[in-house]
Amino acid sequence: MARILVTGGAGYVGSVCSAELATRGHRVVVIDNLSAGHRHAVPPSAAFYEGDIGDTELLRHVVGAHGIDAVFHFAAKALIPESVTDPAPFFRVNVVSAFAMLEVLRACGVKKLVFSSTAAVYGIPTATPIDEEAAKLPANSYGDSKLAFERILASYASAYGFSVVAFRYFNASGAAGSLGEDHRPETHIIPLLLDVASGDRPEFTIYGDDYPTPDGTCLRDYVHVLDIARAHVLALDRMDCPGFSAYNIGTGKSYSVLEVCATVSEVTGRHIPLRRSGRRLGDPAVLCADPGKLVRQLGWAPQNSGLRNIVETAWSHRRSLAPSAAMEGAVECEVDA
Ligand SMILES: NC(=O)c1ccc[n+]([C@@H]2O[C@H](COP(=O)([O-])OP(=O)(O)OC[C@H]3O[C@@H](n4cnc5c(N)ncnc54)[C@H](O)[C@@H]3O)[C@@H](O)[C@H]2O)c1
Repeated sequence: MARILVTGGAGYVGSVCSAELATRGHRVVVIDNLSAGHRHAVPPSAAFYEGDIGDTELLRHVVGAHGIDAVFHFAAKALIPESVTDPAPFFRVNVVSAFAMLEVLRACGVKKLVFSSTAAVYGIPTATPIDEEAAKLPANSYGDSKLAFERILASYASAYGFSVVAFRYFNASGAAGSLGEDHRPETHIIPLLLDVASGDRPEFTIYGDDYPTPDGTCLRDYVHVLDIARAHVLALDRMDCPGFSAYNIGTGKSYSVLEVCATVSEVTGRHIPLRRSGRRLGDPAVLCADPGKLVRQLGWAPQNSGLRNIVETAWSHRRSLAPSAAMEGAVECEVDA
């Protein structure tokens, strides 16, 4: 049993990981400022602190009070389009505040950290599938900020003996029961399509249908959020030695935008009106992971990432979105004054 601090544990991926850790008997402590997350998504057994990762006093308190062994760092600003028009908050949260947190961890002797990085660190790939050695040339400030923090972590591993795993997620998707994607605003394809299926949006816009792909629309690698959570659990078992390792989390199989639209239509039984628009700047034709390193070194195998299962679980979560009883029994924590 480990005592894990989960930053951003009220968000989409962080909440599913927190639940998975709790199910496996670990003690979970969540810090989240609820800027994008939902209090009811935090597992009832977890201790919860509403606060910012840049709040060093809070961090020091939480790490000391709970005897934290390792940190799973999900908290971030993560909307790519926003990072293009307004990069400052991305560098502030994803680099400056994250660095402040890291310094508290160093001072407290907590040296195990799993970091949610992203495929956006690769930018526009020159070859596919993408392995971890591919060039890192982010095409937006979000990717820049994530790569900057990866590099800080690599330095901390070599100089201060930190044990760090950086997971570069491709398209996180699907739901785990009552825990799923609920971003506001939403920018991800599957929840947007489910909005259309539910009648909450009139149509779905396809940005570009003249890419060099079989049906002309972009290809992306979708990985179920539960498979992401399980990679984190596997990482935890391998964090006894200092060092920095980066792993892609993707399946190695990609689907086109039109294939995703068709699957959503099939699963929901609803017609999805489509509107075709021009390409968006910086959207690569194909983004597909080579997950070989994760499979070989951590023994990871995606068990939930078939597109149909992803859409079915996301649809079932979408239909359940209602005031939740998950708050009941939750452990509320406050900082000692
Ligand atoms: N969802 C994806 O497809 C995807 C892909 C690649 C990487 N990632 C990375 O995975 C992580 C989780 O993504 P997500 O989709 O769950 O995002 P999310 O927005 O649902 O979750 C992020 C959580 O962090 C919290 N947060 C943000 N800034 C904070 C701060 N300064 N202090 C405390 N809490 C703060 C938010 O309230 C939210 O609950 C992020 O780091 C993101 O960059 C996600």
